Amino acid sequence: STETRMNHPVLEREALHTVRLTLNGRARSGQAQPRLLLSDFLRHQLGATGTHVGCEHGVCGACTVRIDGVAARACLTLAVQVDGRQVDTVETPQGHDAILDALKAAFKRHHALQCGFCTAGILMSSADWLQRQRAHGQVPDEAAVRDMLSGHLCRCTGYTPIVNAVMEV
Ligand code: FES
Ligand code: FES
Repeated sequence: STETRMNHPVLEREALHTVRLTLNGRARSGQAQPRLLLSDFLRHQLGATGTHVGCEHGVCGACTVRIDGVAARACLTLAVQVDGRQVDTVETPQGHDAILDALKAAFKRHHALQCGFCTAGILMSSADWLQRQRAHGQVPDEAAVRDMLSGHLCRCTGYTPIVNAVMEV
């Protein structure tokens, strides 16, 4: 009953919270328990399945999104933490982020995706990183690109075309 639920300390902690965010340029909202991961919130509540979930432990990088522009693991972020914030994923519409658009085109040209599982996260990390490199007037070399990509695991192991695609952009 409602009364039982309200009086139960554990269930009370799991009360639903409304989370309002800007997702890929659009105002969205959903309901989330305090422990719900951002990755699950995006995929299951908002239908944004472009963000993939691999390890759920912050290791593989597949779930990487940008929160207020900064790359972050969606599996290490709680949904309630993005209330009032801007979240961008691989589903960012074309024309909203020139660097992300260029990366997507370069990945296609270089055949930088095999199964595609790791791709969304790599694109979001790379877009954030390249934007910051440009802001500081830096042109990264291959070693720097490989270092940035070290936060991502590609189970298909095809790293060379990924490096080449990021290098091109
Ligand atoms: Fe988040 Fe692997 S699913 S880092
Ligand atoms: Fe398959 Fe990277 S392309 S995991």
